[in-house]
Amino acid sequence: MQKELNAIVAGVREKTPVLSTRAEFEAYKATISGPKGVLTDVMKGMGKIPKEDKPAMGKLINEAKTAVTAEFDVVLERLEAAELAAKLGPAIDPTLPCPDSTRGTLHPIAQVREEMVELFRRIGFSVAEATEVETEHYCFDALNIPSDHPARDMQDSYYLPDDLTVNNVSKHADEKYLLRTHTSTVQIRTMLKEKPPIRIVAPGRCFRRDTPDATHSANFHQIEGLYVDKNVTLLDLKATLDHFVKTIFGPKAKTRLRPSFFPFTEPSFEMDFFSPDLGKLSNKWLEIMGCGMVDPEVFKAVGIDPEVYTGYAFGMGIERIAMILQGVDDIRYYYQNDIRFLKQFA
Ligand code: DAH
Repeated sequence: MQKELNAIVAGVREKTPVLSTRAEFEAYKATISGPKGVLTDVMKGMGKIPKEDKPAMGKLINEAKTAVTAEFDVVLERLEAAELAAKLGPAIDPTLPCPDSTRGTLHPIAQVREEMVELFRRIGFSVAEATEVETEHYCFDALNIPSDHPARDMQDSYYLPDDLTVNNVSKHADEKYLLRTHTSTVQIRTMLKEKPPIRIVAPGRCFRRDTPDATHSANFHQIEGLYVDKNVTLLDLKATLDHFVKTIFGPKAKTRLRPSFFPFTEPSFEMDFFSPDLGKLSNKWLEIMGCGMVDPEVFKAVGIDPEVYTGYAFGMGIERIAMILQGVDDIRYYYQNDIRFLKQFA
């Protein structure tokens, strides 16, 4: 029997290197270890062997099986690598010259984001970030957004499947994950981590179930601002946003606060501005952001005493600012990666 086993192993060792397709491999494997394979035959023969020889024979068979399996594993690995290489296509040669050697630049949205962030950095704001996958708590409840608010609807927000687990974002069993609908979530996550004074801006991606048109995109960007300290007043908010508008849109720009409503600020406003130097958009009031004084309910949700601290918050769409600044009248241009469009902002 030992001879027989040695012959099988030797045969396998000789044959496996020439197997070049999965079909060939499977067919050959069947002749060795399939139900009618030669190795299987030898194993079946164990029954006729005298009892005292069985342990020794069993050991030989196991050795042969291990050797054969190892050979087969090598073939499989080689075939899988070849299949993957075929899928990936010919290797890329990174030394070839680039057909268009113009240097890349920041995307126009990123350019405006950087300009805005830099402006706020210069007046003492730092940059905060948080996750794009959020829980209902951070996106809504902690921001005092009631359960019947339309943003909570499946039609308006992207919820993730119930059985999903997201590393680093913990959630209660009875709430859902969703893609954040605004960067106001960063206010909450920051206030839970840091003690006042807090002065942050949070640029980032947001997601809403909008049908794309000239002014809406399901994926867009916002910048959130938050300032919490003792004695922060509406005057501080107005002065800061005034400075922002005059720096971005020119010193002749004027601003106004219009009463509005957001669940997380009280009072709440829309900020409009007006500029004589904006081409087609000159001398019209343009709405650019929501803002207000942080609602005491929000402070309570993060354990900050609203009797001691006050704060202001604001949030705006980066695309909206970019479109006004860059004279772009359809938001979809930003996402098409058309080099003719992008080159205008190089
Ligand atoms: N989160 C609001 C939105 O997405 C924008 C906003 C309004 C943010 C007022 C604020 C704020 O911080 O105070 O529409």
